[in-house]
Amino acid sequence: MHCEPEISLTMKSLVIYDSNFGNTKTIAELIAATLHCEARHVSKASLEAMKNVDLLVVGSPINAWRPTPAIQKFLSSLEALTNVRAAGFDTRMKTFLSGNAAKRINNQLKQKGAKIIAQPKGFYVTGKEGPLEANEKENAANWANELVQLVNNG
Ligand SMILES: Cc1cc2nc3c(=O)[nH]c(=O)nc-3n(C[C@H](O)[C@H](O)[C@H](O)COP(=O)(O)O)c2cc1C
Repeated sequence: MHCEPEISLTMKSLVIYDSNFGNTKTIAELIAATLHCEARHVSKASLEAMKNVDLLVVGSPINAWRPTPAIQKFLSSLEALTNVRAAGFDTRMKTFLSGNAAKRINNQLKQKGAKIIAQPKGFYVTGKEGPLEANEKENAANWANELVQLVNNG
């Protein structure tokens, strides 16, 4: 039997996402399921919700080479992320000028003091409105398991 490592139950994780057509939401929810935490739409993100968060995952569709305005606003509004581990992801199209919103998310999280634990991660959609490419749901679960391992290994 193949057993994935579990995230420590004493750890509080949170996934914050934005999504225009539901694809980033799907990825966010899959990641949250592995992390045993909530996937919360950015419109419902609050400083209160951020309290005691140990691992913060932020995801956005790429809109014009960058995260959505709502995600950018959320990231700027964050207080200092002391003792917070973080990772950013985006959903994108397979074009040579798709851009890299996840990298921008990570940079902003780092600026706020978070420890970035993973490379920026992109998940592919087949068109503007989706759907996700065939293997991306599995990739999302795998990536979340990698995050668990990175957290567990310090
Ligand atoms: C206004 C707009 C701008 C976009 N710009 C980009 C872009 O610069 N690069 C890219 O790869 N995809 C771009 N896309 C496609 C998005 O990546 C795609 O809509 C998104 O991944 C779907 O996720 P969602 O369902 O969560 O919104 C754009 C989509 C919209 C609506």
